[in-house]
Amino acid sequence: MKLIDFGVREDEKKYIQEWSQDNKIEVKIVSELLTPETVQWAKGYDGIVAYQQLPYDEKIFDTMNELGIHVISLRNVGVDNVPIEALKKNDIRLTNVPSYSPEAIAEYSVAGLMALLRNLKHMIRKVDKHDFNWAPDIGRELNELTVGVAGTGRIGRAAIKIYQGFGAKVIAFDKFHNPEIEKEGLYVDSLDILLKQSDVVTLHIPSLGKGHSVINAETISEMKDDAIVVNTARGDLINTKDLYDAVANGKLYGAVMDVYENEVGIFNTDLSNQEFSDQLLDKVIKSPRFILTPHIAFYTTKAVKNMATISLNSMVDELKTGKSENEIDLDK
Ligand code: COI
Repeated sequence: MKLIDFGVREDEKKYIQEWSQDNKIEVKIVSELLTPETVQWAKGYDGIVAYQQLPYDEKIFDTMNELGIHVISLRNVGVDNVPIEALKKNDIRLTNVPSYSPEAIAEYSVAGLMALLRNLKHMIRKVDKHDFNWAPDIGRELNELTVGVAGTGRIGRAAIKIYQGFGAKVIAFDKFHNPEIEKEGLYVDSLDILLKQSDVVTLHIPSLGKGHSVINAETISEMKDDAIVVNTARGDLINTKDLYDAVANGKLYGAVMDVYENEVGIFNTDLSNQEFSDQLLDKVIKSPRFILTPHIAFYTTKAVKNMATISLNSMVDELKTGKSENEIDLDK
C-alpha cells in the first residue's frame, strides 16, 4: 500500500513520518495543496490524504477516478469545501477526523472569552505603551453569566463542562439532543430562546452555507444588551458587518472570532508586508472589543498529531476493508 498526503505543513510532517515508520506503509508527503494539477502526482498511489481550506475543485475527483483512486481522507473535520456530488459521480469515498481534540477548540473558546471579559487585548496594548492605568478596562466575571452553547456535539459538550467548572449558568440548543445534556436539563427549545437568554452565545455548529448566518442584524436585535458572541466554528455563521456594527454602536459587548467569513487566503498567511485590503477585518482587528485570531482553536500538538494519524488510519481501514468508522455518508 502506498499513500500520498497533500497540503502538509512543517508541523505535521514528523507525525506522518512516525506513522509511516510504525505502520511500515509508504506515505509521500507533499506540501502543495490538492488541485486539478497536483492530483496527477497521485498516479501509482492507493489513496489520497489531504487538508486545505480552499475548495476542492470537482476536476480533482474526475482525475482520481481515472487514476483508479477511490478514497480521499481529510485530516480535518469540516467537509464544507468538498463537492460531494463530484465524489458520488466518481464513486469516491470520503473520511474525515471528527474528533481530533474537541477539548482544544472548547478550551480555546473559553480562553478567548476570558480575554475579552477581562479586556486583555486593550490592557496589553496599553501596557506595551507603558500606560498602566486600570480604567476603563474593568472586567466582567464568567461565574455571573449565562452561557448559551449552540451545538452539543463533541466540542459543544466539552465547552459545557468547562463553563460549568467556572460556575457559569449554561443553557444549550441543538436539533439533536444528547442524552447527558438532556438529563442535566440544559436544553432550551429554540436557537431564538438561546439567543434571547444568553449573556454569551458560543457557536459549535457546522456551516449552514454562505449567506445563511445565525448571527446577523435581525438575530442580534433579539439578543441581550452587552451580550458576547464566540465563534470558533465557521466564519459564515456570522454576518461580520452586522456584528461589528452592533459592537460599535454599543448593543453588544464584543466578540471572539477565531474564524471569519472571508478568511480563505488571509488566515495562516503572513501579510505583514502587504497592503491590507479587507477594511471590515481591519476594523475588527483594531477594536479592543474583538478578539480576532486566525483559525487557531484547533492548533495544539495533540490535535495536529491526531489529525495526521487518524486520517491515515481511516485510509488504511478503507483500503483494507472497504469502510472506516470515519467514513462520511455522502447522502446525508
Ligand atoms: C476543521 O477541522 O475543520 C477545522 O476547522 C480546523 C482546521 C483549520 C484544521
